[in-house]
Amino acid sequence: MIVLKTAEEIAKMRLLGQQLARILHTLKQQAKAGMTTARLDEIAASETELVGAKCASHGYRGFPGHCCISLNETVIHGIPSGRELEEGDLVSIDHVIERDGLFVDSTISFTIGLPSKAQTRIMEVCSRALAEGIAIARPGKTIGDIGNAVQSVVESSGCSVIREFVGHGIGRAMHEDPQIPNFGRSETGVMIVPGMTLAIEPMIAEGSHHVRIAKDGWTASMADGKLSCHMEHTVAVLENETVVLTKI
Ligand code: MF3
Ligand code: CO
Repeated sequence: MIVLKTAEEIAKMRLLGQQLARILHTLKQQAKAGMTTARLDEIAASETELVGAKCASHGYRGFPGHCCISLNETVIHGIPSGRELEEGDLVSIDHVIERDGLFVDSTISFTIGLPSKAQTRIMEVCSRALAEGIAIARPGKTIGDIGNAVQSVVESSGCSVIREFVGHGIGRAMHEDPQIPNFGRSETGVMIVPGMTLAIEPMIAEGSHHVRIAKDGWTASMADGKLSCHMEHTVAVLENETVVLTKI
C-alpha cells in the first residue's frame, strides 16, 4: 500500500533529511586512512543521537551496524568492522534515521584520497543517474520512468545496473511501497502522485551486474570483484516540484 504524506509530515522529513545530510557530511570529513569502519559507525551513532533521532538500520532484521559502510566492490549492506580505511578506497555510507515515527534514507560515496579515473567515472555516472531519476519523479510520470531514466544514464555510460536491490517508498516506515527498480520501461508501473516520498538509489557497477552475498548474510559485493557505486536521496513529490529532502 502506498502511503501519501501530509504537508506536515513532509516538513518534518525535510528537517530530518537536512540533519541526515549534515551527519553524512561529517562522516565524510572524518573518514581518514587508518580509521576503522566500526569507528566511523560509532560517529554515525553519536551524531544521530545528537539530533534526537534513531539509527533505523541498527537491529533491522538483525543488522549489527548503525549504518551500512560498503567499500569498493561491495555495493551495499557492508557491515562496519575492524577493516581500516585505506588511501584509494571508494567508500559508500548508507544511513537511515528516524524521529517521531518518520524515516529518511540517504547514501553518499567518496574516496579516501584522490579518486582514480575509474572511480571518478563511476561516481559521476551514479550521481548523474540519481539526478535524472529524481528529475523525472514528477506527478504524471511512473515508477517505470524513474527506472528507465536511471538505466539509460548508466548503460549508455558502459556501466551496469544491479537488479537484486531496489529503491523504495519511505516515510512512516523505512521501506514502503512502491519498489523502485533502477531499470524498467517508460510509462509502466505505478503512477507518481503528489504526497509520495521516495528513496531513489542507483546501485551500479563497472563490470557485470551480478552480486554475491557474503556468509554474513548481508555484504553484497560484485561477483566479478569490480568497482561499484551507490548514491541515494529521499525526495518528496509535490504538485509542481520534487523536493530533495536529504540535502543541506
Ligand atoms: N538503507 C537501506 C535501504 O536503502 C536499508 C539498510 S538495510 C539495513 O533500504 F539492514 F542495514 F538496515
Ligand atoms: Co534506501
